Amino acid sequence: MSTTSITLRPVQPEDLEVFYLNNKDPEAVWMAAFTAKDPADREAFDAHWARIMASDTVIIRTIEYHGEIAGSVLKYEMEGEAELSYWIGRAFWGQGIATAALKVFIKELEVRPLHARAAADNLGSIRVLEKCGFTRTGTDRYFANARGEEIEELIYILE
Ligand SMILES: CC(C)(COP(=O)(O)OP(=O)(O)OC[C@H]1O[C@@H](n2cnc3c(N)ncnc32)[C@H](O)[C@@H]1OP(=O)(O)O)[C@@H](O)C(=O)NCCC(=O)NCCS
Repeated sequence: MSTTSITLRPVQPEDLEVFYLNNKDPEAVWMAAFTAKDPADREAFDAHWARIMASDTVIIRTIEYHGEIAGSVLKYEMEGEAELSYWIGRAFWGQGIATAALKVFIKELEVRPLHARAAADNLGSIRVLEKCGFTRTGTDRYFANARGEEIEELIYILE
């Protein structure tokens, strides 16, 4: 898919309803694994988004695909390192949207290196990172709320 089919724009308040539904979709939550304790908790979702939208170190974009809200991509900081995260609504999976959006976003962000993490069995996310030029630097193990146990996580970097 050409990157011209997607648009990244600043988040508008009405996007949050879509993000909330996407973020509590059970199949997506299982994939992402490292999620909020209760992704259906609307109050916690609203508090989290209010916090990240107000943060100076977080950059968030809504991904539009032919004018529809397909998902979100964001950069945040963890222990001083720039980390990327993304989430596409299930109805939009498998059309190259995450790859196209991430390519545009990393071009827009001037900061390097960029870091990203994915559950070791999140094959879609791993493939997106590899297609965007990230290389794997190692693995870690963390407790994944969505799985109720510690699982392996792959660590990626874009220099
Ligand atoms: C993972 C996710 C971002 C992929 O989004 P997407 O728009 O469907 O991804 P793309 O269409 O750009 O696909 C990129 C590649 O991954 C592959 N892929 C996508 N989903 C896959 C899956 N579930 N299993 C295996 N491969 C998959 C595609 O085939 C494509 O590879 P190819 O070009 O070699 O064929 C999306 O499924 C999602 O948001 N999931 C829930 C949240 C999540 O996991 N976020 C990431 C947290 S680290």
